[in-house]
Amino acid sequence: MKRRTFLASTSALAFLPRTVFAAGEMLRLKAEAVVQQVLPEGEGTTAMLGFNGAMPGPELRLRRGVRAEVEVQNALEEGTAVHWHGIRLENRMDGVPMLTQELIQPGARMTYSYVPPDSGTYWYHSHYISHEQVARGMMGPLIIEDDVPPDVDHDITVLLADWRLQEDGSLINEFSDMHSVAHGGYMGNFARGFLSQSQVSIGDRVRLRLINAATNRIFPLQISGAAGSIVALDGMALAVPRALTDITLAPAQRADLIVDVQEDVAFDMLMRDGSFRLADLAAVGANSDRQPTPIRALAAPDLPKPNTPTQHLTLTMMGGAMGGRHGGDNIWAFNNVSDLQPEPFAAFQRGETVRITLVNDTSFPHGIHLHGHHFYEVDADGALGDLRDTTLVEARASRDIICVFDNPGKWLLHCHMLSHAVGGMRTWVTVA
Ligand code: C2O
Ligand code: CU
Repeated sequence: MKRRTFLASTSALAFLPRTVFAAGEMLRLKAEAVVQQVLPEGEGTTAMLGFNGAMPGPELRLRRGVRAEVEVQNALEEGTAVHWHGIRLENRMDGVPMLTQELIQPGARMTYSYVPPDSGTYWYHSHYISHEQVARGMMGPLIIEDDVPPDVDHDITVLLADWRLQEDGSLINEFSDMHSVAHGGYMGNFARGFLSQSQVSIGDRVRLRLINAATNRIFPLQISGAAGSIVALDGMALAVPRALTDITLAPAQRADLIVDVQEDVAFDMLMRDGSFRLADLAAVGANSDRQPTPIRALAAPDLPKPNTPTQHLTLTMMGGAMGGRHGGDNIWAFNNVSDLQPEPFAAFQRGETVRITLVNDTSFPHGIHLHGHHFYEVDADGALGDLRDTTLVEARASRDIICVFDNPGKWLLHCHMLSHAVGGMRTWVTVA
C-alpha cells in the first residue's frame, strides 16, 4: 500500500452534524467504528472511530448555566472515556480514566452531567489512550451558547485536524511510533477543516469558531476573503476584539472570529513551502441589508479575580530528541519526572492564586493544557494577558501563567501534543 504524499489541497465540502440541547433532554453519544469520507469526494473512504456514525462527532450545543446530561455509550471493542475540553466542570465529570473515573467498558454506558459555566467554543474528545483514540477520530465540537448571541448572520464551526493515510484513504496505524513521539508527535499527511455550513453571502457578518482537534499539529492559519476581529480564545471572550491577522492554533486551542465576508472565504495552512487549503466557504449572492458597524466584544466571562500569588512554581519541560538528559523514565518529563505519579506536582487550597513559570527546555514547541480551569498568560510586560486553557510554549522559551485554583479535585496538567503526553509529559495537581 502506498502512503499519501503530503496534503493534497481540498475544496470539497465536509460537514459537521449538529445536535442542539433542549433543557431536560438527554443527549446521546455512541462511540463506535465509522467509515468517513476524509479525503475529497471521489477518493477512498477511511475506516476509523467516531460518535453517532460520524467523524468528527456531532456538534453539541449546550446552554450556559443549564445542566446538560450526555450519555456516552461505548460500542467500541476497547474502553473509553470522554473529556469536555475547557469546561470548568465538576471533577468527577472530567473524563480522565484512573484519575476521575473508571473506564467505560465495551458495551457499557456512562452519563456525564454538568452545568457549563461559560459560553464559548470548546470540544470533546476521548481521554483514554487519547494519542490513538483521538487520532482515530474520537472528537467533536462542543459549543456553549451565548445568553445573548452577537449580531451575526451565521455562526459557523470550523474543526481542523490531520490524519496519516494511505493513498486509498485507510488510516496508517503508527500512533505510537517512537520517532514521532520523540519529535513533534504523530503528524498527518492529510489535513482538512470540517464546516458546519458551506455557504455565506458577500456582506454577511459571520462568527467563525475555529477548533484545532489535531493530535499534534500546530496550525498556522491564514484566512482570506473576510476581514474582522478575534473575539475569543479558548472559549473566553477578549475584553477588546483584536484585528484579525494570521493566527496560530496549537492542538486543542480555539479562536472565535467575527468577520465580514468580502468574497469566498478560504482557510489555508501556511507552511515553509507554500500553503494548503483546509476548507473554504462559498460566497453566494450578496447581503445588502447589513450596515457596517464596529465589532463588539462578547459578554465577559465570570471568572474569579486573581489575588497576589501565594506560590510561584516552575514546571520545566524536558526530554525528546535533541533534548538534554533528564531523570524521568519515559521520553519526555516535567521537572525530571515522567508520567503520572501517585503524588501530584502541587497541591493547592481552593481559591489560591498561583503563578507557574512554564520553562521549555526542549527542542520542540509544547501546548500545555490544564484541566478544570482557565489561566492567564502573563504578557512580556508582566500584565495579565489572555485567558486560556492551553498555552503554546515555543522551543527554548518560557511562559508564566497565573491561575486561580478554585475548582476542587484532581486535575491533569499535560502537553496536548498527545504523542508527548503518552511519551511522559503529563502530571496532575490537586485542589482541596
Ligand atoms: Cu483536551 Cu487532557 O485534554
Ligand atoms: Cu509537547
